[in-house]
Amino acid sequence: MNILIERKGRVVVVQLNRPKALNALNSQVMCEMVTTLQKLDHDPEIGCFVITGSEKAFAAGADIKEMESKSYIEMVQEDFFAGWDGFTSLRTPKIAAVSGYALGGGCELAMMCDMIFAAETAMFGQPEIKLGVIPGIGGSQRLTKLVGKAKAMDMILTGRMMNAEEAERSGLVARVVPTERLMEETIEAAEIIANYSKPVTMVAREAVDRALELGLKEGILFERRTFHALFAIEDQKEGMRAFIEKRKPSFKGK
Ligand code: HXC
Repeated sequence: MNILIERKGRVVVVQLNRPKALNALNSQVMCEMVTTLQKLDHDPEIGCFVITGSEKAFAAGADIKEMESKSYIEMVQEDFFAGWDGFTSLRTPKIAAVSGYALGGGCELAMMCDMIFAAETAMFGQPEIKLGVIPGIGGSQRLTKLVGKAKAMDMILTGRMMNAEEAERSGLVARVVPTERLMEETIEAAEIIANYSKPVTMVAREAVDRALELGLKEGILFERRTFHALFAIEDQKEGMRAFIEKRKPSFKGK
């Protein structure tokens, strides 16, 4: 297996496991990641995924050795990289825990997660320009939405890397943590999320994503209608009742 899966209560940690290739993302990694997580996505007992790599590399990109000799027609016929859509359409919240290099497809994988926690050593980049190509798993779109045109152009046209501090300042990263605390702090946040009502966390992340996809008026309407719909679930009653009764809520995921 090119990925290692560990379950910690309601959290599933997925660790990329191709250390010799700095976790380069080949088709097998994509396939294993998507098929494994699609099965877990429907499990009501699992409330958050954490995606991580090694200390040296989250992932150093798509696998250049796998791509290098492909022809245009092969890329089109295979719809190369389209399989990652299966990752973005997972509905369980997912956090990327990034240490070391997150380059090219690695940076794109991190951005496909709902948020990124970075170790102080993390380095982000879209260096595809150096290989004679451009980002191919959403980098030109997601990076621009997350950090704005100025920084995205700088990163994508020069191929330079951004360190964790700059990435946090630019809005790419949610938290920067000391390297030795990365997994602890990410899993702690994942557990907090996983212990809320899963149908609620699922639609909360969908509502936030709408902000990047829709105009303000449509986004607000999506949010309001989704908010209304939550009054059909028991966890809304439980959450509000628990507040009034001054006790901890016990969410059932329904
Ligand atoms: C395949 C890779 C790889 C990659 C590293 N390796 N990145 N193999 N695909 N993306 C392999 C190296 O070939 C090497 O294998 C081993 O991992 C260790 O890498 P080194 O380069 O020796 O390590 P180091 O000197 O520490 O440098 C680390 C690095 C460098 C700065 C991260 O590896 C690097 O620049 N990698 C490529 C980064 C990149 O361009 N990513 C974007 C890819 S394209 P051997 O067998 O020699 O030991 C992409 C976008 C897809 O992701 C969309 C475009 C279509």
